[in-house]
Amino acid sequence: MNNNSDLNRSPSPLHGIFTAVPPRYDLVNHIITLGQDKRWRKLTAVACLKGNPSCILDLGCGTGDLSLNIARLAGKNVQISGLDYSVPMLELAKRKAEKAGLGDKLAFIHGEATKIPFPDGHFDCVGISFAFRNLTYKNPLCELHLSEVFRVLKPGGRYVIVESSQPQNRLIRALCHFYVRIFVKSVGIILSGNRSAYRYLAESMVDYYSPVGVREMLLRAGFIDVTYRPLLLGAAGIHVAQK
Ligand SMILES: C[S@@+](CC[C@H](N)C(=O)[O-])C[C@H]1O[C@@H](n2cnc3c(N)ncnc32)[C@H](O)[C@@H]1O
Repeated sequence: MNNNSDLNRSPSPLHGIFTAVPPRYDLVNHIITLGQDKRWRKLTAVACLKGNPSCILDLGCGTGDLSLNIARLAGKNVQISGLDYSVPMLELAKRKAEKAGLGDKLAFIHGEATKIPFPDGHFDCVGISFAFRNLTYKNPLCELHLSEVFRVLKPGGRYVIVESSQPQNRLIRALCHFYVRIFVKSVGIILSGNRSAYRYLAESMVDYYSPVGVREMLLRAGFIDVTYRPLLLGAAGIHVAQK
């Protein structure tokens, strides 16, 4: 793993939260999504591999689950890199990759989403699972992150995003927000012991943009052909945008 010591001094938004939550991060995720997160990442990996890309970045890779899913499905010549600014997350990712016998297929890199350490037009696909909200919700660096993703993609390359979303149906949306405010927040706080992390999670999920809002944001950043596939009645969804 490439350890970028400059980043340890970085005041990037949410960095403190994501260096504190790793020990129980995966467990909390599985519980609060009722086990659906595994299926959603697998679908996202399949979407990332559409069009036979040879070079893929998993942005905000965390403990590496999207990278691992891609590596399991991809041919051996596909280069897969996971990038994250949290060293504890990356350490878990690396351990999981080695345990799964996929260590050789994956490179985990310590880096910042607003300063991706790759040249212009390097990737056929950038995938992101559950980190897009962090990079866009009330984040002053939102536009910088979008322009960096645009920069490192080849022309025709795809940005594949799986993220929590807003169900279109008002009743389902209200039930979903109730579930997030009561269950997600409490389980997260109890299991992780980190009140601010799961308060932030609940607030940002309830307040987050609709699929149309995300689409507009991606179009403003220069992407085209933006598509959306809702998951679990719209509680989450997969957006795909093209450079
Ligand atoms: C909610 S977690 C998602 C992790 C993983 N992708 C998953 O599917 O579980 C968000 C991840 O994005 C990373 N992250 C947030 N902002 C970042 C930034 N500006 N640069 C790099 N990584 C960032 C965090 O460290 C964290 O690991």
